Amino acid sequence: MSLAGIFLLTFLLVHMGVNLLIVIYDDPMVYNKVAHIMSTNILIKIFEIILFGGFLLHIIYALILQIQNWVARPKRYNKANYSNTSFFSKFMIHTALITLTFLVIHFMDFYIKAKFGHATEVIVDGVAYHDFASEILDKFKMLPFVIFYIAAFVFLGFHLVHGFQSAFKTLGMDHKKYTPVVQFLAIIYATIVVAGYSFIPIYIYFL
Ligand code: HEM
Repeated sequence: MSLAGIFLLTFLLVHMGVNLLIVIYDDPMVYNKVAHIMSTNILIKIFEIILFGGFLLHIIYALILQIQNWVARPKRYNKANYSNTSFFSKFMIHTALITLTFLVIHFMDFYIKAKFGHATEVIVDGVAYHDFASEILDKFKMLPFVIFYIAAFVFLGFHLVHGFQSAFKTLGMDHKKYTPVVQFLAIIYATIVVAGYSFIPIYIYFL
C-alpha cells in the first residue's frame, strides 16, 4: 500500500506540473501538445497502466485495512479522541472517499470524454489534438466548478498529510530523529499540492 501511495504522490506532482502549463503559457496549444504526448507516448501509456494498478491496489488495501479495523472493534470507544493519532489520520477513510468521488467526476469530465469520443479537437499541421485546454478554460470560468475542485484539493491535501508520513513510516523511516523531518516534509508536500492545483482554477476564473 505504501509503495502504491508513493507512486501516486509522484504522479500528483507530475500531473500538477503539466496542468500548470495552462496558466504559464498564453498559447493553449502548449498544454494540448504536452497532453497529446502524455496520451500517445508508449512509455507513458505503460505508466498509465501502472498508475491505474497503483490506484486499485491502494484502494483495495485501504478497504481491507478499514474492514479489519471495524471487525477488530465493532463497538466504538465510548470516549473518543484520547489516542495519540493525529487529526488527519482519524479522517483518512472520509478524505479518501471524497477524493475517490472527485476522481470519478474528474474522469467523466476529461479522461472518459477523451478516450470514448466527445472531446473537442483542433488540427495543427495535419495532427489532431484533443482540445483539453479550451475545456479546462471553459470549465474554470464557472464558479461551481472552481469551488468543487478547490474543495476537493483541500480534502486531498488532508489525505496527503497523513498518507505521506504513513507511507514512509511503513517503509521503515520511523525514528525519533527522522519522524519529525518526514512530518514536516508531509506538510510541505501537501501544501504545495493544494496550492499548486488550486492556483489553476483561481487564476483561470479571474483571468
Ligand atoms: C486543476 C486541476 C486539474 C486539472 C486541470 C486536470 C486535468 C486533467 C485532464 C485534462 C486530464 C485528461 C488528460 C488525458 O487523458 O490525457 C486528466 C486526467 C487525469 N487526472 Fe487530472 N486534473 C487536475 C487535477 C487532478 C487531481 C487533483 C488528481 C488526483 C487526485 C487528478 C487525477 C487524474 C488522473 C488519474 C487522470 C488520468 C490519467 C492521465 O491521463 O494522466 N487530476 N486531468
